[in-house]
Amino acid sequence: MGLAGIDGSGVKLIMVGGKGGVGKTTCASAIALKMAEEGRKVLIITSDPAPSLSDIFEKEIGDRETRIDDALELYGLEVSSDIVLARWKERFGPEIYEVVSSFASVDYDFVEYIGTAPGIEEEYMLNFIMELVEGGSYDVVVWDTAPAGHTLRLLRLPQLFLSHMEAATKFYMNMYGYIEKVKDTIRLKESKKTLLQIIAGWEALSERIVEFIRDGSCVKYLIVTIPEALGVKMTNRVIGELEENRLTVENIVINNVVREADCEFHRLRKTMQEHYIEELRETYRGKTLTLLYLAAQEIKGMDRIAGVTRSLFG
Ligand SMILES: Nc1ncnc2c1ncn2[C@@H]1O[C@H](COP(=O)(O)OP(=O)(O)OP(=O)(O)O)[C@@H](O)[C@H]1O
Ligand SMILES: [Mg+2]
Repeated sequence: MGLAGIDGSGVKLIMVGGKGGVGKTTCASAIALKMAEEGRKVLIITSDPAPSLSDIFEKEIGDRETRIDDALELYGLEVSSDIVLARWKERFGPEIYEVVSSFASVDYDFVEYIGTAPGIEEEYMLNFIMELVEGGSYDVVVWDTAPAGHTLRLLRLPQLFLSHMEAATKFYMNMYGYIEKVKDTIRLKESKKTLLQIIAGWEALSERIVEFIRDGSCVKYLIVTIPEALGVKMTNRVIGELEENRLTVENIVINNVVREADCEFHRLRKTMQEHYIEELRETYRGKTLTLLYLAAQEIKGMDRIAGVTRSLFG
């Protein structure tokens, strides 16, 4: 028994998702360690607003790719949405500004405003990860995602983002139309690209991202949950939404499972957990469910991470 299909040779990206606090970072770290132990060059990346890789690996990681272990090709990266947004602005800001300022009097704050469009952050996070994967510096990237809500938003995007931009485009096209009429009387700066061309470029990028995240041979989704009502509910929601978006979850890790009950407190807990484990088994017959037992100590440091690796992969 153990996780299925995620250590195949074609797998390039493993996304670890689930509700807050259920053990995503723990599982992602254990998976990354496993891959690195097999001799692969691995990057574990967290996009959690509260970066936590430094804590679990007991090594300062931060927003640069940092080698975690001298003996293994294991690297870590903690990216915040601020950094991702800043990169987006670096990449698209100047051309947006150039185009818009050619027909409207706006200052550079306008770019900041576009940067607040719903979905830009998520879209660009996906783009950032896709570029990391396709850049080929690593054999495999393990992505410790932010708690569920965020991940789901991420998938509803590119659409949300594009419809926002479409509305903005229509608005500007109307303005353009107006300028068309008066263009002989006002001087327009020559712009290399039109706004529509820029947006068409974003649209193409979006489509490429969606295609990338749906490629099941290269991207694997793993959901971590706990055997409690809330955990089961969230899992159903997350998996439902992922699958509506044609993203297949093959693995579910049920964490914090009580292994042996030697007191009344733990007997009660174990009975409660068994009920929910059974429910998850019934619901997800086609998937691989892996139990991860609750340890007496928090999971921190290489030795304990390695313990989780052994539990997950058998
Ligand atoms: N099987 C386990 N046994 C004991 N402690 C565990 C186990 N799994 C996780 N923990 C502990 O539970 C806490 C939460 O785990 P973790 O940080 O991996 O969750 P998370 O889903 O990443 O949380 P967040 O949503 O806040 O990022 C950590 O202190 C971790 O050490
Ligand atoms: Mg975490």
